[in-house]
Amino acid sequence: MDRDSVEPQVDDLPGERARELVSYHHEHAAPSTYICEFVWDHSEPAIGPFCTDVDGNVLLDFAGHVGSMPLGYNNPKILERLEEFELVDPLKIAGQDFYLPAEELSDRGVPGPADLMDRLTDVTGYGMDTVFLSNTGAEAVENALKIAFDYTAGKYTITCQGAFHGRTLGTLSLNRSKEVYRRRFPEIASVHDVPFCADRTCSSETCDCGFFREDGSALRQMVRDTGFVNPEEVAAFVVEPVQGEGGYRIPSDAFTDEIAAVAEEFDIPVVVDEVQSGVGRTGEWWASDHSAIEPDVIASAKALRVGATISRKEVFPAKRKRLSSTWGAGDILSAAQGALTLDAIEEHDLLDNATERGRQFRELFEAADTPGVVDVRGLGLMLGVELDETQRRDDVQAAAFARGLLVIGCGTKTLRILPPLDVTEREIRLGTDLLVEAIQDVA
Ligand SMILES: Cc1ncc(COP(=O)(O)O)c(C=O)c1O
Repeated sequence: MDRDSVEPQVDDLPGERARELVSYHHEHAAPSTYICEFVWDHSEPAIGPFCTDVDGNVLLDFAGHVGSMPLGYNNPKILERLEEFELVDPLKIAGQDFYLPAEELSDRGVPGPADLMDRLTDVTGYGMDTVFLSNTGAEAVENALKIAFDYTAGKYTITCQGAFHGRTLGTLSLNRSKEVYRRRFPEIASVHDVPFCADRTCSSETCDCGFFREDGSALRQMVRDTGFVNPEEVAAFVVEPVQGEGGYRIPSDAFTDEIAAVAEEFDIPVVVDEVQSGVGRTGEWWASDHSAIEPDVIASAKALRVGATISRKEVFPAKRKRLSSTWGAGDILSAAQGALTLDAIEEHDLLDNATERGRQFRELFEAADTPGVVDVRGLGLMLGVELDETQRRDDVQAAAFARGLLVIGCGTKTLRILPPLDVTEREIRLGTDLLVEAIQDVA
């Protein structure tokens, strides 16, 4: 497959083999697990955003395995190094311990969990020098909460309306996106929420989302001396710098400025959930880097292939065994992929590419005739296209799929577009054309 010339080619989608495999999956899978009717055949050609499914259809994948595939398929920079690595057993090592002598690691160019933590702290500012590795995004956030509770001895957490932070009992207590995640599940106590101000043009004077009020923001009102929460008892304010599952909502500068100001004035630790927005997706290493927010803890996962809770040494409990995970750092390959991903982003200026290509997508889209589209937004390559109705969004997703373009929904009416960070100008044009055609077709 030649990345410079390949185009989506669709015969029957989902084809017969895909339908068979989906129904096989559902024979034993928990019924609530989600599967889209795209079945990737990993023995068939795939490169960058292009892949082949089990029926031989060639697709342009702008869903990127829900943001967990930052460099697309078969990125040579990752593959070349992983090929050096003869597979070993066990591939998973309990407690993310040392598995190769350091010289051998560097000789073979295959980084391990310690190298991943080294690189992560290198690319992260905010004085953060310490990492706890786990497996998933939910675990990264859950451990962020645990260290915040331990560090502050506070009992309150404050979350944002529309938020999604994971599916463990702790993290789901902070979810405010869809009730299906929370229904009948017990939650941790003392969680309050404030509106997430996603009107990008608003200021504290013009805002009507409910966050800004005449006599101070909802957060300020909550923690000031006439409020109902003692700021000394707040363990963390938890926020997605761009809301993901909630609908690719980008906060206003007025909102992030006020969060930063209140956090500083009342000494409230800020946990940023960068599980979806981090690792270069928005054109900066962390989406928080676009704003005035100075995080105390960053939770990352997805693109990193493992979960990571990042902070300053003193924020982590010093006592041994306070935090642990048998399979922390995923398996050996996951840790290596995470570290090599960071290397590739740095070596190939993919932060700049994400900014440029994201701009190209928005410009092409704005110039096109797109009936029913009410907003096109994005930071870097974390892009959202909002439609006027849920049904239209779902129809457009299906029409795009029928043309060989994979995109997924979020919020209630939005499509999220997640090309690989090394996406080219040609690929953005191709994807935009297909999506615009799908929108016009549905209209
Ligand atoms: C912002 C955010 N936080 C946490 C999570 C949970 O991550 P995981 O599914 O890896 O547990 C997600 C997953 O989509 C997410 O988008």
